[in-house]
Amino acid sequence: MLSYQHGYHAGNFADVLKHSVSIQILNYLTQKSKPLFYLDTHAGCGAFRLTGPQAQKNKEYETGISRLWQGSAQEPTLISDYLHWIKTFNQTTTLTHYPGSPWLAQQILRPQDRLALYERHPREYQRLQQNMRNDARIKTYQTDGFQACLSQLPPREKRGYILMDPSYEVKQDYQTVVEVLKKAHRKFSQGTYALWYPVVDRFRINQLEKAFILSGIQNIQLYELGIKQDSAQGMTSSGMIVINPPWTLLKTMKTELPILSRRISDSDGFFRVEQLVAE
Ligand SMILES: C[S@@+](CC[C@H](N)C(=O)[O-])C[C@H]1O[C@@H](n2cnc3c(N)ncnc32)[C@H](O)[C@@H]1O
Repeated sequence: MLSYQHGYHAGNFADVLKHSVSIQILNYLTQKSKPLFYLDTHAGCGAFRLTGPQAQKNKEYETGISRLWQGSAQEPTLISDYLHWIKTFNQTTTLTHYPGSPWLAQQILRPQDRLALYERHPREYQRLQQNMRNDARIKTYQTDGFQACLSQLPPREKRGYILMDPSYEVKQDYQTVVEVLKKAHRKFSQGTYALWYPVVDRFRINQLEKAFILSGIQNIQLYELGIKQDSAQGMTSSGMIVINPPWTLLKTMKTELPILSRRISDSDGFFRVEQLVAE
């Protein structure tokens, strides 16, 4: 049994990038009234208590949401849209809780939309079910999210956003994500896909990028936020690889990721915004 539990990491700098990008994608895709399908392949439990023992262990949220929470007079859209939902989730002026990707999607999606949430860990799954109950749009599954990508696609709505956010506890995941996304894209080439990756070992990420460049898939962008230069001491950076991003997203990221980076990174932090494969 794998032991990863996102409660230890909730609200860290990697969550800030992942959730702020995901919110921009969802906001864009819900502008059209046609139904949208949302697939979360690695959903987690949907809600986290920052005052609880897991988050308190290493206080990772202090590298992320804590640095943004107070806000500033004029936030760029990437930050203000993100903060809007984190503040809504907290309902008070004190930061005590942090939402997961399923909760964020649940808020932004409309009555005509549908959500499929996959989580394999028994305890996390139980919490997810509890947190997402009483919403007829949502179906939760306690099975492998990689397989879900293939069994659920193409969706009947013919419009979809697939978030793939593995824990990379199994090193094979770095290869699996590419294999699965290639197959998924073959089944549903119009979908928007976002893959989160951690930079713990830069070599693995260089390999991952190469695999996407050679995948035959068009229109892939990469956004990365590093709070420090690469080092051998754990995750210092993380990124999102987005296939078929909203056409507006590259410009938003080029203008606003530098601002987000200044707000949460250390002095040797950095960011990347790249069109990895052309349209
Ligand atoms: C990074 S966390 C997800 C966080 C969540 N997406 C969010 O942003 O709030 C990864 C989750 O994937 C689960 N997991 C690991 N392998 C899985 C698999 N093959 N299929 C589905 N879930 C899996 C873990 O138990 C963990 O809860």
